[in-house]
Amino acid sequence: VGKDVDVVAEINRLRKEKNAVILAHYYQEGAIQDIADYVGDSLGLSQQAAATQADLIVFAGVHFMGETAKILNPDKKVVLPDLKAGCSLAESAEPNAFRAFKEQHPDHIVVTYINCSAEIKAMSDIICTSANAEKIVNSIPKDKPIIFAPDKNLGRYLIKKTGRDMLLWEGACIVHEAFAIDKLLDLAKQHPHARIVAHPESEDHILKVAHYIGSTTGMINFVKNDPAQEFIIATEAGILHQMAKEVPGKDLIPAPSHEDNTCACSECAFMRMNTLEKLYLCLKYELPEIQVPEDIRRKALVPIQRMLEISK
Ligand code: 13P
Ligand code: SF4
Repeated sequence: VGKDVDVVAEINRLRKEKNAVILAHYYQEGAIQDIADYVGDSLGLSQQAAATQADLIVFAGVHFMGETAKILNPDKKVVLPDLKAGCSLAESAEPNAFRAFKEQHPDHIVVTYINCSAEIKAMSDIICTSANAEKIVNSIPKDKPIIFAPDKNLGRYLIKKTGRDMLLWEGACIVHEAFAIDKLLDLAKQHPHARIVAHPESEDHILKVAHYIGSTTGMINFVKNDPAQEFIIATEAGILHQMAKEVPGKDLIPAPSHEDNTCACSECAFMRMNTLEKLYLCLKYELPEIQVPEDIRRKALVPIQRMLEISK
């Protein structure tokens, strides 16, 4: 993009001209969150995608999020600033391996976290996000055994919360697994009044010391409504942008990661592949576009719609 191009002004012009909507996740860089029509967690984003009247959906998030929007909107164009923006959880569930796992347990109901590919969704009975997972699991009749995939940490957390014995797929989020419990406890000692707020993709030892566990939207609401002054935030660092806007007077401290983590911080490299410039280019050229084969799309739509129905 040339130096003479005012990217923000061009995005604003093009979005009107094309009747486009820009949906962004809280883990996107601040400039993207600021220009988006809607910023939210995975549930809020899929609800927005299901309801939009726009002709073009620009999804500032990772691939599975854009794919979910496409599954809900087969007649609309859905573009993603960078098609390589994947997710370690989605990658952990390879469709053939997952099919074999499912076939070994034919009597099980398959509850799948939204962080997975369209092919995995097509093999699922119901989808959930971190915001509604407990409600979704509780909606399954008690006599039915459950497979939960692909996040084993969220799965373990749900087993504890619901008392349901679920078979777990061995997936994990590389960002949330990088939080270092020893460093977190040191930090908490230095800030004895701080409340620890964690995303349920974090490991059990992190969740055990958390005062609040929830989706990114849930975490923001907690920080807004809790009277504490200091918060330690155990999730991807992009959320701090929106939180700081919501609670400018409070102290937000990112939870520490292991030093050998690729960026020694809690940034999701996939989410960070999207930039404001790439967002401008994908709005301008309507590329790269998300495509989902129609047979997979139709099958994947059923468990997504079940989730949306329960989450109204
Ligand atoms: P939320 O649905 O809580 O925003 O989580 C999405 C995600 O990718 C977490 O790593
Ligand atoms: Fe996937 Fe983790 Fe990145 Fe979320 S933070 S998109 S779960 S790799």
